[in-house]
Amino acid sequence: MEQGVSFDIELIRRYDQSGPRYTSYPTAVEFDTSFDEAAYRATCARSNESGRPLSIYFHIPFCDTVCFYCACNKVVTKDRSRVAPYLDRVYRELEMQGALFDDSRVVEQLHWGGGTPTFLNDQQMVELMETTRRHFKLADDEVGEYSIEIDPREADANTIALLRRIGFNRMSLGVQDFDERVQKAVNRVQSEAETMAVLEAARAEGFRSISLDLIYGLPFQSVETFMNTLERVIAVNPQRLSIFNYAHLPTRFKPQRRIRDEDLPTAEVKLDILQATIQRLTEAGYVYIGMDHFARPDDELAIAQQAGTLYRNFQGYSTHADCDLIGIGVTSIGKVDNTYGQNQRELDEYYAAIDAGRLPVFRGIELTRDDIIRRDVITRLICNFVLDIPAVEAAWGIDFKTYFADALDKLQVMVEDGLVELDAERIRILPRGRLLVRNICMTFDAYLAAKSGPVGFSKVI
Ligand SMILES: C[S@@+](CC[C@H](N)C(=O)[O-])C[C@H]1O[C@@H](n2cnc3c(N)ncnc32)[C@H](O)[C@@H]1O
Ligand code: SF4
Repeated sequence: MEQGVSFDIELIRRYDQSGPRYTSYPTAVEFDTSFDEAAYRATCARSNESGRPLSIYFHIPFCDTVCFYCACNKVVTKDRSRVAPYLDRVYRELEMQGALFDDSRVVEQLHWGGGTPTFLNDQQMVELMETTRRHFKLADDEVGEYSIEIDPREADANTIALLRRIGFNRMSLGVQDFDERVQKAVNRVQSEAETMAVLEAARAEGFRSISLDLIYGLPFQSVETFMNTLERVIAVNPQRLSIFNYAHLPTRFKPQRRIRDEDLPTAEVKLDILQATIQRLTEAGYVYIGMDHFARPDDELAIAQQAGTLYRNFQGYSTHADCDLIGIGVTSIGKVDNTYGQNQRELDEYYAAIDAGRLPVFRGIELTRDDIIRRDVITRLICNFVLDIPAVEAAWGIDFKTYFADALDKLQVMVEDGLVELDAERIRILPRGRLLVRNICMTFDAYLAAKSGPVGFSKVI
């Protein structure tokens, strides 16, 4: 499959609206508290019949300082003694979760996200991994995808060597922007040397895939400043890049109130930055994977996309399709069998549940057959930019045209606009439609249709 993306400003403007990112379907706004601990336990027991491999996500919420743009779930503190009580609860959760899954089920994917996972000291990181290995069987290094989010200000060459020793083989590095004025405006001053030292150390230690995170749309950014950052990034040739669109929602994320509206680039400038970025990355040989992600053509994500085996979950794109995902720690979301379940979002409540001997799952959803079919369609489109209609019909015993009559109706406008190509056998997202893949998926979202539009999501572009 051809992996190009094309930028059509008029189309993007016309389609720019808020929409979900589909890290889950149904999205988290549909979760409710009727899905509780008992429902979660029953689900896990049922899932053991499948013997599917496992994936584990650990949320480490602590950060030393706040970045004003940040929309992640975090606890900002200088007090490192807050880690130990958190880890105590995480270990108890690991024990409870470990007991729910058959010992024969292997963990093929593990991720530490945050917050800042390396807020933990060396001993705590070793201990967390050892405790995980006590309760779960982890796949060998060649098979397992073990990834961690790194803030270069909170890691040095020794940290990286330690992480490799305890099993990590992939990482993403938070860069955002190298421009000093931008860095000051968002309270994240991080030298290029610091970032590069971590990148070099990760390469030397044999990390297999290293991804860099950038954000466009931050205060004082212009095409020129962002291209300057991008050049410096391209010069070190990372396998993967995430270029996030800054989601400015100050009513929802308090630290964002410290960013002045008048310092933000206009919508016009943001689109120019995006266009220049895509053009430059394409020239440099990167492939657009979709939804903010670019990769080298020899990267496993690009290869999986070519082969039609790419998958998407809460950690983004992945090559491990059929895992049950266990979420550990405050706010984490799991996906087990045909359910999603989320842990308590506040530390107090998370601690209270664990201290009472309960699993901290407080809300979730059990998918209906319709949810499962729609999730399959959305996942295929978002990952592979193509949908094999007979394959979906065979998988679910449906007549696609009848089942999705409404969606196909809505899709017609996008066919006319040259975003997608549609025939009896397949839906193909064309290069012009790739930046708008969210909009295309939204036509298959039954919840949006019921609500007559998306509410509370960030803008598509
Ligand atoms: C949990 S953070 C990464 C780990 C580490 N705390 C760090 O900052 O380096 C994940 C990434 O989310 C992105 N991010 C955070 N807030 C964002 C926002 N409001 N809009 C777009 N991207 C955002 C940043 O690129 C960040 O690197
Ligand atoms: S971007 Fe990373 S370091 Fe900054 S506040 Fe968010 S989670 Fe913490």
